[in-house]
Amino acid sequence: MKVSLIVAVAENGVIGKDNDLIWDLPKDMRFFKETTMGHHVIMGRKNFESIPERFRPLPNRTNLVISRQIDYQAEGCVVLNSLEAALKVAQENGDPEPFIIGGGQIYKLALSNNLVDKIYLTKVHYSFEGDTFFPELSAEWKEISRVDHQADEKNIYNFSFITYAKGK
Ligand SMILES: NC(=O)c1ccc[n+]([C@@H]2O[C@H](COP(=O)([O-])OP(=O)(O)OC[C@H]3O[C@@H](n4cnc5c(N)ncnc54)[C@H](OP(=O)(O)O)[C@@H]3O)[C@@H](O)[C@H]2O)c1
Repeated sequence: MKVSLIVAVAENGVIGKDNDLIWDLPKDMRFFKETTMGHHVIMGRKNFESIPERFRPLPNRTNLVISRQIDYQAEGCVVLNSLEAALKVAQENGDPEPFIIGGGQIYKLALSNNLVDKIYLTKVHYSFEGDTFFPELSAEWKEISRVDHQADEKNIYNFSFITYAKGK
């Protein structure tokens, strides 16, 4: 099993504000959906609650929510008390590529504990005000692909789809 992380990050590292996303990039939303489809998606309790009720649990994916609250319930999701426990569920269910989908605390936890093999990072080429950040990637992470997109009518910021893997 290879563990992936997927995130959209502004130029200044911001990923969210007031427990919500900041920008609207339909092309990135589509990329997120297509990339994670059929897999386990692992998220923090705050990220789960930030998803509008009509969109959660994320369809056609096994939704795993991480919380320290022993009695926390999330309809249609499995609640676990650690990232390791969530990854164990994905492994037992035979998912070759579970996705860590945020937010800030869970990204930090996953990266600092060395639990991630691959990163799908959408870099939004603009700086935003926010209160949640993606950690600075350490030097071991090497860019392995990049596709640049120009802004258009519906996607009003330039952005790049970048993948990273650990270099030797
Ligand atoms: N741009 C992007 O790609 C992207 C993606 C996802 C989310 N976001 C944004 O990120 C923000 C939310 O991120 P966040 O950092 O505030 O919260 P978060 O990481 O989504 O969730 C934090 C919660 O996870 C649980 N948790 C954290 N560490 C844990 C541990 N070691 N063991 C067990 N449970 C643990 C706790 O839940 P309990 O309090 O219940 O114990 C904690 O309150 C929102 O603004 C959202 O829009 C952005």
